[in-house]
Amino acid sequence: MELKDKTALVTGGGIRLGRAFALALAEQGVNLVVHYNRSAEPAEETVRLAKALGVDAIAVGADFTDISTIEALIPQAIERFGCVDILINNAAIYLKGTGLETDLETWEKQFRINLQTPFLLIQAFARQLPKDCPGRILNIADAQIRQHQPDHFAYRLTKIALVEMTRMFAKELAPQITVNALGLGIMLPLAGKEDVDLQAYADQHVPLKRTGSPKIAAENALHLIRSDFTTGTFLRVDGGQYL
Ligand SMILES: NC(=O)c1ccc[n+]([C@@H]2O[C@H](COP(=O)([O-])OP(=O)(O)OC[C@H]3O[C@@H](n4cnc5c(N)ncnc54)[C@H](OP(=O)(O)O)[C@@H]3O)[C@@H](O)[C@H]2O)c1
Repeated sequence: MELKDKTALVTGGGIRLGRAFALALAEQGVNLVVHYNRSAEPAEETVRLAKALGVDAIAVGADFTDISTIEALIPQAIERFGCVDILINNAAIYLKGTGLETDLETWEKQFRINLQTPFLLIQAFARQLPKDCPGRILNIADAQIRQHQPDHFAYRLTKIALVEMTRMFAKELAPQITVNALGLGIMLPLAGKEDVDLQAYADQHVPLKRTGSPKIAAENALHLIRSDFTTGTFLRVDGGQYL
């Protein structure tokens, strides 16, 4: 798909990987709706950086624990840009807990933000797209779903289901819309743990002996969004960690 002059909604586009996805699209001439929850200032900074690249951009707030704010997102984007051609479901939470430690509140929050919100946004996105316009959906998943992670029980289930939902929607929304999932390995340290030695981690756990980066994540996202012949795929970008 030719990306110039298209419009993308990137959830969690204010910070970290979400910002990298947003700005990689802006570099290709894509107008942006940068969603944020708590990171209003960083989202405005993403907007400023995007505008400096020559595209139009707005920041829109929504707390994904509140369904009414999710429902308002796509209409706000349409009001500004007419329609949305690209949706990146990037926002997620990574709550700790083994199967026995995970209480119902944690379970519900984890599923609401990581799975229910992408589901609702995909529905709203598909319904607003004019029938003669191609669309692209990219769900940001996690390569670690290939291995049981005992201490992130509910998180792993949400990402497994997100990948399955990717396949299901890919079939349902073809041929107009492609739906793909990006299975990321280690790209950045966890927020608040920036001082960990990622190279030591990579030396021990990653066959390619390096970690990824926002740039690598964004390059692979662009590849899936551009492709006219790829849908329902789970692209693992993890340096071989989960082979
Ligand atoms: N970092 C990695 O190495 C890595 C590895 C594998 C997979 N991933 C996946 O890549 C994606 C981005 O990762 P990241 O490390 O950049 O994530 P992050 O730093 O944890 O950022 C999470 C994003 O989710 C948004 N968010 C959190 N709670 C929300 C809520 N209640 N309502 C709406 N938005 C909410 C945040 O928005 P605000 O900041 O505005 O609140 C933030 O933009 C995630 O899907 C993650 O699972 C990342």
